[in-house]
Amino acid sequence: MKKITIAIDGYSSTGKSTVAKQLADSLGYVYVDSGAMYRAVTLFALENNIISENYFDEEKLLKSLPEIHLEFRKKNPLERADIYLNGKNVEKDIRTMHVSEFVSPIAAVHEVRVKLVAQQKMMGAAKGVVMDGRDIGTVVFPDAELKIFMNASSRQRAQRRFLELYSRGEEVQFDDVLKNIEARDHIDTTRSDSPLVKAQDAIEVDNSEMNLDDQFHTVLQLAKDRI
Ligand code: C5P
Repeated sequence: MKKITIAIDGYSSTGKSTVAKQLADSLGYVYVDSGAMYRAVTLFALENNIISENYFDEEKLLKSLPEIHLEFRKKNPLERADIYLNGKNVEKDIRTMHVSEFVSPIAAVHEVRVKLVAQQKMMGAAKGVVMDGRDIGTVVFPDAELKIFMNASSRQRAQRRFLELYSRGEEVQFDDVLKNIEARDHIDTTRSDSPLVKAQDAIEVDNSEMNLDDQFHTVLQLAKDRI
């Protein structure tokens, strides 16, 4: 069977990663969470006094970029890969609200994008990949055989994200989660480098009223039609 590239883009917390993982498992493809890479760079910036509530030392970030090594590694072949920042597993540390608050300004830096996009292109070079993010169908894999653009109302998205953080034991307020999602959407769609836009040839899936099963089967059928 021919292997294809599947690009899944969309706003924050639209369920991109859930459907991307289901697709990858079902097709035997590699799943790459490109957002995890931007989050890991943000964690580095927070840990190295590059960004905080009061400042953003972009020059220091640019100088530090060669020292930032990202890698996806599996503990065993059956498990999903975790992201490693300079040899340390940061899979849990990157998912906090604190990292979410700073990730979009970091992801708007051109040099950060150049570095991560190059790595993403390499990871998908052999096809048989499902990658989710904001610029996968427009910049990383403009020739992807299947491009999906996921959407849902911002309230729905905030509700899902709130429950996810809450179930992980993070004490967050719903309004703060909603504000964070709207702030990230704003920065992600208005930045000058690779803003989040629906690729012309992407298929939009609005899952506001869909359950996980319906969503998965809709997208799986789109993939099967192209294989
Ligand atoms: O997908 P996730 O919500 O974890 O992504 C976190 C942030 O990383 C996004 O809000 C966006 O600012 C940035 N991002 C990006 N390009 C991607 C993936 C994520 O700019 N391909």
